[in-house]
Amino acid sequence: MTIQLGPHRVDGNVFLAPMAGVTDVPFRQICRMWGAAYVVGEMVASQSHLWASAKSQSRFRFEESDSLRVTQLLGADPDELEKAVYFAVEQGAQVIDFNMGCPAKKVCSVACGSALMRDEAEALVLLKRLGAAARNADVPVTLKCRTGWDEAHKNAVTIAKMAADEGFAMITVHGRTREGGYISPVEYRTIADVVQAVSIPVVANGDIIDGTRARRVLDETGAAAVMVGRGSMGKPWIFRQIASHLAGEDYPIPDHRQRVETILAHREAHFAFYEEDLAVRTFRKHLSWYLQGWPDAAPALAVVLREQTGESQRQRLCDYFAAQGWI
Ligand SMILES: Cc1cc2nc3c(=O)[nH]c(=O)nc-3n(C[C@H](O)[C@H](O)[C@H](O)COP(=O)(O)O)c2cc1C
Repeated sequence: MTIQLGPHRVDGNVFLAPMAGVTDVPFRQICRMWGAAYVVGEMVASQSHLWASAKSQSRFRFEESDSLRVTQLLGADPDELEKAVYFAVEQGAQVIDFNMGCPAKKVCSVACGSALMRDEAEALVLLKRLGAAARNADVPVTLKCRTGWDEAHKNAVTIAKMAADEGFAMITVHGRTREGGYISPVEYRTIADVVQAVSIPVVANGDIIDGTRARRVLDETGAAAVMVGRGSMGKPWIFRQIASHLAGEDYPIPDHRQRVETILAHREAHFAFYEEDLAVRTFRKHLSWYLQGWPDAAPALAVVLREQTGESQRQRLCDYFAAQGWI
């Protein structure tokens, strides 16, 4: 259950997936608190003219709670990517992850993210350059990809071998093709093939939503770890639940009081990280995920989500928790 990434040791095999708009510093902090062994922030574009934006700046930031400071880069220009590696390391990154999995049209129209899997020659150019830049900067580099472009072109094994040959330290494979987006049935067979093909650690990703699924995927693929994305939205305790299940000790879903403590801790971290206007707006989605299916949540949420200041949002939220007897 230990993965070595260059000089860094990762203890544990349940990881948080990078999710733009979700896995910011405060959310990573909460997932770490609930036992995520390794957490990856939101992707950052490799074009240097974007780095000064508030969005990119916040994505280059880390906190003590980050297990390892991982920056995920997205791009298709070798020169820009190389510069981005050095810049990310200057900003404190200890590991660079390369995104070859993003399916968004906005991304693929400029041939980066998962579009790179369609052009193996170009992919190799980028993997070579990133491998060399990471060696120069003395940081491990990792790859995140999909199983391929579409069902007829599943080349994760080829891409993974190239990455391993270029010195990449770990590969995460999302068990869908680019064409499959986020909804096609996930398949783990290709991930098992990648595990067989390379000698570096492989992380399995896609629809890991509980301990039973995690156990099955680890057994079927031989992967070194699982990575959880959407299953953690509004449920950061999932890391403890999965890790406990894998250790043979089931951990029940926390009760409402414990969950409320988590929400309030997350909220506090969120408001400490962002300026208030942005914090109020961006915390709304977390609240919608957290309160899904809770007793009498719909009318309470409608009120909370209308609030425009941090204090009034907190107050309405606490009114709801108090009315339910949770605080
Ligand atoms: C809202 C959202 C944002 C995402 N952003 C990124 C990203 O920045 N980088 C990346 O490699 N993958 C990104 N992904 C993909 C996830 O890391 C993961 O591969 C995918 O959601 C499948 O895992 P899951 O079924 O556990 O959610 C994103 C997914 C979602 C839903």
